[in-house]
Amino acid sequence: MSGFDERARTWDTPERRERAAEVAAAIREAVPLDGSMRAIDIGAGTGLLGLELASDVGDVVLTDPSEGMLDVAREKLPGSAGRVQAVRFDLLRDEPPGGPFDLAVSMLVLHHLPDTRQALEAVAGLLRPGGMAAIADLETEDGSFHDEGAEGIHHQGFDPAALAHDAEAAGFEAVRVGRAIELERDGRRYPVLLLVARRPARGG
Ligand SMILES: C[S@@+](CC[C@H](N)C(=O)[O-])C[C@H]1O[C@@H](n2cnc3c(N)ncnc32)[C@H](O)[C@@H]1O
Repeated sequence: MSGFDERARTWDTPERRERAAEVAAAIREAVPLDGSMRAIDIGAGTGLLGLELASDVGDVVLTDPSEGMLDVAREKLPGSAGRVQAVRFDLLRDEPPGGPFDLAVSMLVLHHLPDTRQALEAVAGLLRPGGMAAIADLETEDGSFHDEGAEGIHHQGFDPAALAHDAEAAGFEAVRVGRAIELERDGRRYPVLLLVARRPARGG
C-alpha cells in the first residue's frame, strides 16, 4: 500500500478542493475548452481537478497509480452521467489508458516524478497532434512544503524557465509558464505555476 493509498480517505480537505477550483479556473483562462474534448487528469488522486473541469469538456479520464485514491474518485462518479472514468495508470510505466487526448491536465504530480523531461515526453505521448497540456506544480521552494520524511519527493518545485526548456526539449511547442495560484501553509506562501504547451500538429 502506497502513502497515497493511506491518505486517500482524508485527502479531500476544503483547502485542496479550493486549490483544485482555482487551478481549474487558471486552466480555463489559458486553454480554450469545449464540449468535444477528451481530457485526461494525470495523477488525479481523488479526481479534484478533473472533476472541476468535467463540465467544460466532453469526456474525462481520471488516472492515478494509487487504487486507494481511485476508490475515492470512483465514489464521486455516479453524478457524472458516464462522461468521467477513473482508471489505474502510472505515467512512467503503463500504456496510455485510451486516447489520444485533446487535453492533459495535472496538479502537483510532476515533483513526484524523477526525470521531468521523460515525464513530459510521456505526457506528449498521450496527446493527439495539436493537443494541449496544462500542468500545475510548485515553483521552486525551500523544501518546507512537504513534511519531513515525506516519500517520493523528487523536486522542491520548479524554476519556470528551466521547466519551459524541459517542455520544449520534450517536443512541445507554444510553451508558456505562468503563475496559477499561491498556496498558503503555516503562514508561508508557495507559488504554483501553470505550464501550458501544445503537441505540434505535425511531426511532433
Ligand atoms: C500530491 S498528489 C496530487 C493529487 C491530485 N492531483 C490533487 O492535486 O489533489 C500526487 C499524485 O500523483 C500520483 N503519482 C505519483 N507517481 C505517479 C506516476 N508515476 N504517474 C502518475 N501519477 C503519479 C500519486 O499517486 C498522487 O495521487
